[in-house]
Amino acid sequence: MQMLLHANSLLLLAPTTSRLSASASPGRSGTARPLPPPQGHAHSARAAARGTRRPPAVAAASPRTPMAVGEECAAAVASQGFVSDARAYWVTRSLIAWNVNDQDTSLFLYASRDATMHVSDGAIHGYDSKIELEPEHASLPDNVAEKFPFIRSYRTFRVPSSVDVASLVKCQLAVASYDAHGRHQDVTGLQLPGVLDDMFAYTGPLGAVFSDKDVDLYLWAPTAQDVRVCFYDGPAGPLLQTVQLKELNGVWSVTVPRYRENQYYLYEVKVYHPSTSQVEKCLADDPYARGLSANGTRTWLVDINSETLKPASWDELSDEKPNLESFSDISIYELHIRDFSAHDSTVDCNSRGGFRAFTFQDSAGIRHLRKLSAAGLTHVHLLPSFHFASVDDNKSNWKFVDEAQLAKLPPGSDEQQAAIVSIQQEDPYNWGYDPVLWGVPKGSYASNPDGPSRIIEYRQMVQALNRIGLRVVMDVVYNHLDSSGPFGVSSVLDKIVPGYYLRRNVNGQIENSAAMNNTASEHFMVDRLIVDDLLNWAINYKVDGFRFDLMGHIMKSTMIRAKSAIRSLTRDVHGVDGSKIYLYGEGWDFGEVAQNKRGINASQINMSGTGIGSFNDRIRDSVNGGNPFGNPLQQGFSTGLFLEPNGYYQGNEADTRRELATYADHIQIGLAGNLKDYVLRTHTGEAKKGSDIYTFDGSPVGYTSSPVETINYVSAHDNETLFDIVSIKTPIGLSIDEKCRINHLASSMIALSQGIPFFHAGDEILRSKSLDRDSYNSGDWFNKLDFTYETNNWGVGLPPRDKNEENWHLIKPRLENPSFRPLKNHILSVFDNFVDILKIRYSSPLFRLSTASDIEQRVRFHNTGPSMVPGVIVMSIKDAQNEKCKMAQLDKNFSYVVTIFNVCPHEVSIEIHDLASLGLELHPIQVNSSDALVRQSAYEASKGRFTVPRRTTAVFVQPRC
Ligand SMILES: *[C@@H]1O[C@H](CO)[C@@H](O)[C@H](O)[C@H]1NC(C)=O
Ligand SMILES: *[C@@H]1O[C@H](CO)[C@@H](O)[C@H](O)[C@H]1NC(C)=O
Ligand SMILES: *[C@@H]1O[C@H](CO)[C@@H](O)[C@H](O)[C@H]1NC(C)=O
Ligand SMILES: *[C@@H]1O[C@H](CO)[C@@H](O)[C@H](O)[C@H]1NC(C)=O
Repeated sequence: MQMLLHANSLLLLAPTTSRLSASASPGRSGTARPLPPPQGHAHSARAAARGTRRPPAVAAASPRTPMAVGEECAAAVASQGFVSDARAYWVTRSLIAWNVNDQDTSLFLYASRDATMHVSDGAIHGYDSKIELEPEHASLPDNVAEKFPFIRSYRTFRVPSSVDVASLVKCQLAVASYDAHGRHQDVTGLQLPGVLDDMFAYTGPLGAVFSDKDVDLYLWAPTAQDVRVCFYDGPAGPLLQTVQLKELNGVWSVTVPRYRENQYYLYEVKVYHPSTSQVEKCLADDPYARGLSANGTRTWLVDINSETLKPASWDELSDEKPNLESFSDISIYELHIRDFSAHDSTVDCNSRGGFRAFTFQDSAGIRHLRKLSAAGLTHVHLLPSFHFASVDDNKSNWKFVDEAQLAKLPPGSDEQQAAIVSIQQEDPYNWGYDPVLWGVPKGSYASNPDGPSRIIEYRQMVQALNRIGLRVVMDVVYNHLDSSGPFGVSSVLDKIVPGYYLRRNVNGQIENSAAMNNTASEHFMVDRLIVDDLLNWAINYKVDGFRFDLMGHIMKSTMIRAKSAIRSLTRDVHGVDGSKIYLYGEGWDFGEVAQNKRGINASQINMSGTGIGSFNDRIRDSVNGGNPFGNPLQQGFSTGLFLEPNGYYQGNEADTRRELATYADHIQIGLAGNLKDYVLRTHTGEAKKGSDIYTFDGSPVGYTSSPVETINYVSAHDNETLFDIVSIKTPIGLSIDEKCRINHLASSMIALSQGIPFFHAGDEILRSKSLDRDSYNSGDWFNKLDFTYETNNWGVGLPPRDKNEENWHLIKPRLENPSFRPLKNHILSVFDNFVDILKIRYSSPLFRLSTASDIEQRVRFHNTGPSMVPGVIVMSIKDAQNEKCKMAQLDKNFSYVVTIFNVCPHEVSIEIHDLASLGLELHPIQVNSSDALVRQSAYEASKGRFTVPRRTTAVFVQPRC
């Protein structure tokens, strides 16, 4: 190591500990013009209120095994006597930044390879080297500030060019500042991602690369002092051999004989770990693992291209992919793998709840999906299916409740939830938003968590769904990781390059606004790992789309790179057509990344123009009312605001009416693809662009440049199901038949919107979670899906206390009220209507316009302005009337479509002069509907008069002759 040594060791004081945290103050982008909330109404102004934040999915998880089973790791010694924060940034190989104020401050860098530094008696002891840094710019140079915008104003100091930086980054490091008189001011640790990216950004091979005779192993670990690989005999067998790796430019590698294939291995990384201030020997899985043992205790050395892992005709699956012409043709059904079959008695017991359940072609669940597919549904989105922490892979450890006993308890009892909660850490249920390793399917969903089953069965699942006409979306969670630190089987990346993969605040603490250890895609190798991982799923599992959890916590540049890497996949070269793979995610803008503080993040508004979708909370909150963080009784457009008040709202009639009209404006923008440039005549009579219309907390409603950038939805796995929303918001006395109509109305606004419609599994069959607002760990019991259509899971007990107790007083009387419970015929009729509305969407390309200009040209709203009839939205979509028209002809059957959403509790007759004298008639699917009311909808051409029964969505078409 080449070092500059300073003669004397200077006196130092203990570090100051009470620094301001960098955590973002709540508040949304300041650019929007806020609209004051109507009086007396409790609209949340909170930053995150737009969307939904992730729950800590393993909040009370049992203590993890402290280290991989049977392995030894150097014991941790508490970081006594050494700085535990890291407020300085090593931003490039030659620059260190720190927010010291005084111009005359001088800085010294201290390093100790064995981590023997400590501060005692006011001095730093135990360092190997001490380097004087030269004061540089007053603030960060522009190119560096772009990468670190939040420390733009820090002062920079130059690292002498003679210093061996590559060696230094492997050491325990500290910088100390001194005033002009040489008096010590402050001391702190360093954050290294900047210098690591500058020196070690790497694009070569990683993981295991198989050739005929050998396997090359590559691990990126520039701060490691030593790396070995330990090979084991089987997933739990003894150590076979330990092999040394060699380092070149931060990448450690070794070539081992091919006979190692199918053995299990772990890396032993000797590295300084800032969380313990020690050099640790960490045992970690391969970040590029393609196979794992149960619980991920070891990496399985597997050639993912091996023939033995392929289900029959796997290589030909690309030929069997359901047709997809345009992303605007997509509709999405969001499904949890366990929910799909846990209660399906037509699936073999041993396959229930896992990947294999999807291969039972005649199960109740598959028959249900087939009906949706036949109606036009294109994609099934599966909740997390990679290796996550919160469910034990070993089935013999699972605990279950006695469901038959629970079923005997009263509907509003608190005993069911008590039973569920008592085993919730040991049952097989969790949503799985707690990633450990992104690249391998979750073992608990496989018949055997060791070896090949999880790979083969995942592929069979994709194949089975594709074969019933459904493409498969994978829910990816790159925004955070379950664990960090040198210990524990669920920490992987942070064992290999400590502090690099995770995003830290200006004190050096790991950010956790995403409810876990947030990752930092602004760092080169994190960005790379994300893109590589997506390609792994796209190529090796032929996944057809990706949904990004808390996408706003990922950088926009990562999303763009991911998109172009995926789009460049071709059937000839990669076996899959990347141009058919769709990307979307949660674009909420909150936490440390909000307002571009860590770089341009993938937030809703930033993503405009990228062709990547984001969840549209505007239409969700307007249809339902309020937002998922507000009072559950807040009503919305479909749930009775103004038209059928539930007594919650205290404002006067004019205010309520205005709010209903405001919601109607937001919904109409949503129906028009949530385009920022779509011009709507609002309830005030002014013509405004979508981006000039604001939500109650001051965000622009319209933000997309293309309809494929909005995911329109009213319910998802987060928060109550649609039926539960309707049940809590509508007035107590409303009959179940009317609730069913409202459920359908809300679904139909989504199903007939421009953009990508998204449905939570079960919304079409009145699925209830008994009003659980966050069922991530509520077991099979509260998450039940019943594809026999006998029950909808309403009134199966009070939902778990932890997340719902504050609302139990609202929930209990409803669960106990027999009139809230639907019968099988209600479930079936809602399902029938849902299938019909999907068929209507797919009966005409006019409902699936693919560009903004098509929508701007063709979609019109008619019941607008101050004299609008409250509770009625009239939307027309025009096609070229004949071939000679300037507008392209899209639909060969219909030349005009008019959709009327009437949420009023009474029939409405409305005259629209612009729509007079047309050849409109009720859509043929509705003419044959099993819903007697919709069949009564009528159009009188001479006056342009539409008559639509109460709480009905009626679609009229003008057939071509
Ligand atoms: C597997 O993981 C679960 C938590 O998901 C844990 O409770 C269990 O002890 C782990 N088993 C082993 C053998 O590590
Ligand atoms: C699963 O757990 C059981 C009981 O705890 C244990 O006997 C068995 O060895 C475990 N299996 C695996 C594959 O870890
Ligand atoms: C981050 O990781 C640590 C160590 O694994 C874990 O204890 C902690 O709960 C995680 N942080 C959050 C906010 O989940
Ligand atoms: C909605 O879901 C999110 C995420 O699960 C949760 O944080 C939030 O509290 C929920 N809202 C309500 C009102 O329950």
